[in-house]
Amino acid sequence: MDRFRIFGPCRLEGTVNISGSKNSALPIIAGTILAPGTSTIVNVPDLADIKIMNILMESMGCKVGRDWNNNLQVDTAGLNNPFGDYDIVRKMRAGICVLGPLLARCGRAEISMPGGCAIGDRPVDIHLRGLRELGAKIHLRGGYIIAEANGGLVGRNIFLGGPFGSSVLATANVMSAATLAKGTTVIESAACEPEVSDLAGMLNKMGAKISGIGSPQLVIEGVKELKPVEYKVIPDRIEAGTFMVAAAITCGKLRISNCRLNNLMAVVDRLQNIGATIEPSGDGCIVSCEGNLKPADVTTLPYPGFPTDLQAQLMALLCLADGNSIITEKVFPDRFMHVAELNRMAANIRKEGPCAIVCGVKKLIAAPVMASDLRASAALVLAGLAAEGITIVNRVYHIDRGYEHIEQKLNTVGAKIKREKEQ
Ligand code: EPZ
Repeated sequence: MDRFRIFGPCRLEGTVNISGSKNSALPIIAGTILAPGTSTIVNVPDLADIKIMNILMESMGCKVGRDWNNNLQVDTAGLNNPFGDYDIVRKMRAGICVLGPLLARCGRAEISMPGGCAIGDRPVDIHLRGLRELGAKIHLRGGYIIAEANGGLVGRNIFLGGPFGSSVLATANVMSAATLAKGTTVIESAACEPEVSDLAGMLNKMGAKISGIGSPQLVIEGVKELKPVEYKVIPDRIEAGTFMVAAAITCGKLRISNCRLNNLMAVVDRLQNIGATIEPSGDGCIVSCEGNLKPADVTTLPYPGFPTDLQAQLMALLCLADGNSIITEKVFPDRFMHVAELNRMAANIRKEGPCAIVCGVKKLIAAPVMASDLRASAALVLAGLAAEGITIVNRVYHIDRGYEHIEQKLNTVGAKIKREKEQ
């Protein structure tokens, strides 16, 4: 397994370019199932999770590959096995987002239950409730979801809210399935994340009739068929937010290109509150910070609230604020595996249920730490950039799931990170 050796502290200065969104690309690749033939997906990042999704698609009879332009060609004409194997889905829970497209295309699907992970339980009850509302017969057997819709799906008014509000991938699944259902589907309490809107954009380009995109109420008028398309994935707002925090935590100045600030307003609000300067610039922004970080309270919420996927990264920054901050995690209440590791670096964080109290310290001290999940590992890298000494972040395969060449991007703007094999 690989690990990072990070020499800190450092100051980042220069330009970074944001890759395509992982959380857009995954449901978009699944969505190509709805349109038999070859779709071309542009700006798909080169990530471990994307590779696993491609393996899942190929296991079902699709052909997936990068063309000479590095675009992803997905040929779903040969799809003949609507089965999502446990050994694949357990490695990448987003594999669940093939369920809706398979039901709509094939009238049946057998997908492994995703199982839990380091950030908490990953239930799929909202997915199943929504698909049952569309007429699917669904039962569980041996850890698999067995779904059938032989007579086709029928549009309904569906409420997709859950105990933590909306669900991103449940919305993706039900919206995708509804595109080929008979009649009209109204989804209430739909997720409004930009990644859901990006998927809707591709489906409409395929011939779907989705309105209310970006709002909590989606209206989908079922159509007979969808056609393969060429579609470009939006930039990754979580990667962009991670680099914004990197600029702030190193008292640096980064130009972040290919980043849509309008998808990050809650993050801009918190970072400016803490003391960063953020100015729009060209197709992105310039983020700078002179230190003197102020404490801030932040609560993670479904979009447009502060994204849970940037909670760990912001916590790393708040470790160095001059005062106490409260972070409340309202989406994945257990998403605090990074607290113990940051405390190993002389942070002073106390967990209180779904909250973390972050008492600011003057400096972080380098230490060997363990990555536990994708965004926690990003937070540990950010802490290592600011800490005094050499930080070793173990198990960086977590970070490779969701960040394209992160150490190269950071090293080009002043970081000193070496990737090495764990002894
Ligand atoms: C997506 O996961 C993202 N993954 C996650 O990003 C992100 O953290 C999450 O949305 C929230 O924004 C992808 O898009 C591939 P949810 P998803 O369904 O759709 C509960 C990353 O780091 N829930 O919106 O699985 C759930 O437990 C990853 O890139 C149910 O109760 O998340 C959670 O508390 C991590 N029943 C809340 O809803 C369900 O059926 C929101 O989860 C589904 C979800």
